[in-house]
Amino acid sequence: MDSDSDLELSPETLKALQQVMQEQQEQQERFETLRQQAEERFDEAQDSHENNNTQNKPAITMDFFREDWQLSQFWYDDATSEKLAREILNNTDQQSIVCCISSPTAYVKLMSMSPPNPNNLFLFEYDTRFDVYGRQFIHYDYSKPLEFRLADELKGSVDMIVVDPPFLSEECLTKTLQTVRMLLKKGGKVVLCTGAVMLEIAKADGLQLTTFHPGHQNGLSNDFRCFVNYKSEQFPYSQDS
Ligand SMILES: C[S@@+](CC[C@H](N)C(=O)[O-])C[C@H]1O[C@@H](n2cnc3c(N)ncnc32)[C@H](O)[C@@H]1O
Repeated sequence: MDSDSDLELSPETLKALQQVMQEQQEQQERFETLRQQAEERFDEAQDSHENNNTQNKPAITMDFFREDWQLSQFWYDDATSEKLAREILNNTDQQSIVCCISSPTAYVKLMSMSPPNPNNLFLFEYDTRFDVYGRQFIHYDYSKPLEFRLADELKGSVDMIVVDPPFLSEECLTKTLQTVRMLLKKGGKVVLCTGAVMLEIAKADGLQLTTFHPGHQNGLSNDFRCFVNYKSEQFPYSQDS
């Protein structure tokens, strides 16, 4: 065998490689279609001030987004994302502006539950796969907590925020909460999901421990809890804090 043929791939390897490339291409095409549909949804809603035409468009589900552990992605189980989405619907109305920060599962579920005004619901995420939501997706990096698209428009105007910072560190939570404070309107509601070890930082920001334990599709080893800054029916305060 000469050195050139040493580099040749076996037919099996070549076939596997082609299959991976084809799957990637299909995935990209699917995301592109979803992105275009999100833009169309927005334009239609702007034209008609309602969303009656969106019913024929396929819903986006979390099945499109495989967990990427490099990005600390641990998706909620279905019961948890449903509860969080329901909490938003129970506490907001058509005029309310809502942001899900680093909590895409709650956002995806919320958008699938026919919210009254999807154009007022924003997803802040680092993972650009979620730009399938078009204008509603805001690229966000907690390390630059005050720098993101629509920062000036959204400042002090958000009625409710659900947030789940990517990393279990004081630095990450402190910076993410800087974003929360900047966005939130006076009296705005916050649901924070994070490790129980973050209790003291959460409390210092007016957030109280609740009895709700968010669950994850593939489990999570640390004690994971939910904090709120208002009296919630679904998530009552815990006596433990
Ligand atoms: C701990 S997960 C929370 C996800 C939540 N459990 C869910 O199911 O929606 C953290 C999220 O932060 C995002 N993330 C990763 N790096 C980030 C960064 N630098 N800034 C902001 N968010 C980031 C991840 O993509 C992920 O969606």
